[in-house]
Formats: sequence, structure tokens, C-alpha cells
Amino acid sequence: MTVAISHSPEVQAFFAKAAGIGNDQGNPRLKQIVLRILQDSARLIEDLAISDDEFWQAVDYLNRLGSRNEAGLLMAGLGLEHFLDLLSDARDSQAGYSGGTPRTIEGPLYVAGAPLCEGEAQLDDGRDTGQPMLLEGQVLGLDGQPLVGAIVDVWHANTQGLYSYFDSNQSAYNLRRRIRTDAQGRYRARSIVPSGYGCPTDGPTQACLDQLGRHGQRPAHIHFFISAPGYRHLTTQINLAGDEYLWDDFAHATRDGLVGEVEQLEGGVVRVVFNFCLQPAVHAEDEQRSQRPRALQAG
Ligand SMILES: [Fe+2]
Repeated sequence: MTVAISHSPEVQAFFAKAAGIGNDQGNPRLKQIVLRILQDSARLIEDLAISDDEFWQAVDYLNRLGSRNEAGLLMAGLGLEHFLDLLSDARDSQAGYSGGTPRTIEGPLYVAGAPLCEGEAQLDDGRDTGQPMLLEGQVLGLDGQPLVGAIVDVWHANTQGLYSYFDSNQSAYNLRRRIRTDAQGRYRARSIVPSGYGCPTDGPTQACLDQLGRHGQRPAHIHFFISAPGYRHLTTQINLAGDEYLWDDFAHATRDGLVGEVEQLEGGVVRVVFNFCLQPAVHAEDEQRSQRPRALQAG
């Protein structure tokens, strides 16, 4: 028989005190959030009859997750980062915002401050003998007018599925650039075709996925922040057509409208053409990306 005490006035008062409710110090918003976490955790423990062993295994898991810096990876893998996109889509719909390139998850591997280039950029440092890739397109408004001076902030993995900064074998900002669009709203990049990748096989995210009977693989993809004065910031990525994991992405990032077609050119070069379409900003803050903590980002 299930024993439940979390709803009792005594326990509710105990959690409220633990969350600092009623004192005049601290952060009221955080108190509200912590109280809810305590209340919902207690209900979960009761409803699923969580054993003490399971509870302390979970606590140990959180320690391992943090020690490997994989909390962001787990949020992607469990779909909570994609849920935030779905919720933003629904809020946009309710507010009457529509059209433009879909958003999708940022993931945990952005590094702020990549070199800023005018119109075009070489993304790779030439040390990785991957398949050459031309990546190009336009940044447009909803009415199709080209956006001059938009910033295309692009980052992707190398042929090993690894990202510079997080992979110390790569040069600084390898496969990372910011490109300012030209007078026709165009951006062009020369790079190498990225590889898909998986979660570290010995890490806590993969350990969780193993318990869920899931793989931890992503299709080959290219990340973007797209921004322009007067337009809503866009966080998105294009996933490359033909990858076996295109619609089986452990991070749930692939969306309709975000598949990059890969065109084979002569000489083993491939071309990916992708245009981005931005919604107009209603509020000034719409032009900015989230304040999520990021590598090398001030503040
Ligand atoms: Fe990625």
C-alpha cells in the first residue's frame, strides 16, 4: 500500500521552510522554483515508491553528470531542450508569430567570439582532410528581401565528430566563424563535411540512454545563430540529408524545414545551399539570443 505524506500540512510547511519561504532574504523567484522541485520530488518518491537505494543512486548520477560536464548533453538527449523549442513554438503561435526558418536546439558546444568575416569565410584550418564542402545561402526577411549585414554564426564538428575548444587537438575556433552577409544578404563558407557523432561511450549520458534502450547518435549537422538588427534571433541547425540518423537523432534536433540537401559537385566537392528567413522583432530583446551560459561568453 502506498504511503503518502507529502501533501500533509506538516510536510508542506517543512518544505516551505527549507525553500526559504517566509524569510525576507534571498531570491523570491528561486525560492518558488526550489519549493516546487521539493514538492514534485516528494510526490515522485511516493508515487513511484522510490527506494532509498534508487534515490542515492540518482544523487550519485548527478555528481557524475556534473563531473563530466554532461548536464547539457543529457537535457538534449532526454528531449527537454527540444521541449523548450516546442513550447516556444506554441507561445509564438498564440502570440500570432509565424513563418520563417524553424528554430531547433543549440546544444552544449557553442563557443562565443569566433572570428568575424565579411561575406565569406574558410571554416576549417586545413589540418583535417575531410571532404570539401561549400556552404552558402541568403538571409532573408519574411517578405523575401535580403538582409544585408546579418550575422551568420556557424559551428560544426570535424570528421571525427568533435568540436574545437572541447577537442584540444583542434586549433582555436576551428570550424567556427561569424559571417556578415553581403549586399545581397549572402553568406558563403568553405569547409569540410562534418561527421555525425555520438555521446561519449563511457559517460553518464550514454549510461542513462543504455538504461532507456536508446542509442546516443546524431546525424551530421551544422549549427547556426542567425541575427540581424530589427529581426528575431534564430537558433537553429541543418541536418544533412542522407545520414542514417537524420530522423533518428538522439537529441531530437531534426525538424521539417531544416534538412540540408547535399549536392555532389565535380572533384569530390559537395555543396549545401541553405537560406534562412527571419521574423521581424517585436521587442528589442527578441533580437538577442538567450543568456544561457556558454564557453568564452562574457558575463
Ligand atoms: Fe552539434
